[in-house]
Amino acid sequence: MAAVSSRLPAFPWDKLEPYKATAAAHADGIVDLSVGTPVDPVPAVIRQALVEAADSPGYPTVWGTPALRDALTGWIARRLGAVDAGHRNVLPVVGSKELVAWLPTQLGLGAGDKVAYPRLAYPTYEVGARLAGAEPVVYDDPTELDPAGLKLLWLNSPSNPTGRVLPKDDLVRIVAWAREHGVLVFSDECYLELGWEAEPVSVLHPDVCGGTYEGVVAVHSLSKRSNLAGYRAAFVAGDEAVLGELLQIRKHGGMMTPAPVQAATVAALGDDAHVGEQRARYAARRAALRTALETHGFRIEHSEASLYLWATRDEPCWDTVAHLAELGILVAPGDFYGEAGERFVRVAFTATDERVEAAVKRLG
Ligand SMILES: Cc1ncc(COP(=O)(O)O)c(C=O)c1O
Repeated sequence: MAAVSSRLPAFPWDKLEPYKATAAAHADGIVDLSVGTPVDPVPAVIRQALVEAADSPGYPTVWGTPALRDALTGWIARRLGAVDAGHRNVLPVVGSKELVAWLPTQLGLGAGDKVAYPRLAYPTYEVGARLAGAEPVVYDDPTELDPAGLKLLWLNSPSNPTGRVLPKDDLVRIVAWAREHGVLVFSDECYLELGWEAEPVSVLHPDVCGGTYEGVVAVHSLSKRSNLAGYRAAFVAGDEAVLGELLQIRKHGGMMTPAPVQAATVAALGDDAHVGEQRARYAARRAALRTALETHGFRIEHSEASLYLWATRDEPCWDTVAHLAELGILVAPGDFYGEAGERFVRVAFTATDERVEAAVKRLG
């Protein structure tokens, strides 16, 4: 049997382990700014909904409860400006990572098909292409790609790792190009509610998609905006033909969001207050870390949105990782996200106020 894992890149986080050990040896403990996992409590309104749905003995449905579909369509209308989206335009997924990793396979892509994603990107876009046996292709500007054989185009704005936001005009141009060439666009917008110096726009906004969802799907996650990474709550929204096909496959595959998580998602999407509170926490941590890094001699590029500062000391990223590890601070090397990141590090501001304060003191 051929090992499927042999198609995949080495799991990069293992390479960080020695630096983690160095940072952990700091007298005042490690400040881990590497992974970007939420650390603040799950908001009470969401926990309550989860608990109230704890008595869920039956199977949930892949498409979700009607209440969940209402919450999804309501949220994309209210928050993204999507017009005329019904239940067929939404589909829950079990956290967005599984969707990213398995989408090319579920779309039936394989040898001879290409999947494109940004030159600097979340590694799972490549993993998804490789799991399907399709060819991964990177881009600087997707409209410069050869559309022959290109089946799936990933956008990611705001970007992980750079925090860059694609302006609306670029989205309009890219969606028009993709439609002209029959390329399906999946836009990963999981940091959309975390814009700091830019207002991210969804591909579902009528100015971008023209009010029709043909060939366009947005991916959203509650992991970051609602501290729900542990719940696995996410969804896709857009082209009903694509979502209908995914629904069939995911029904056969048993890819169901647990019923209590469905209920929690309804509560989370119905409440803007916790999103505002969480944004305020991140804004303060971001400002403190940004100033401290700049004072320490770092240059920050992009980073106008998302949960990361894309920082450089104009040296190889592993030298920067080693330097910060000596200070007890762990960051992600830029080359985890593509060769183009080899002189940058990604600094997540998902640490407690106390840990961020410790990092600021050490950088000072
Ligand atoms: C760009 C991007 N997409 C998707 C994900 C996956 O998020 P989740 O599986 O928690 O929804 C992440 C997580 O960091 C991410 O950075």
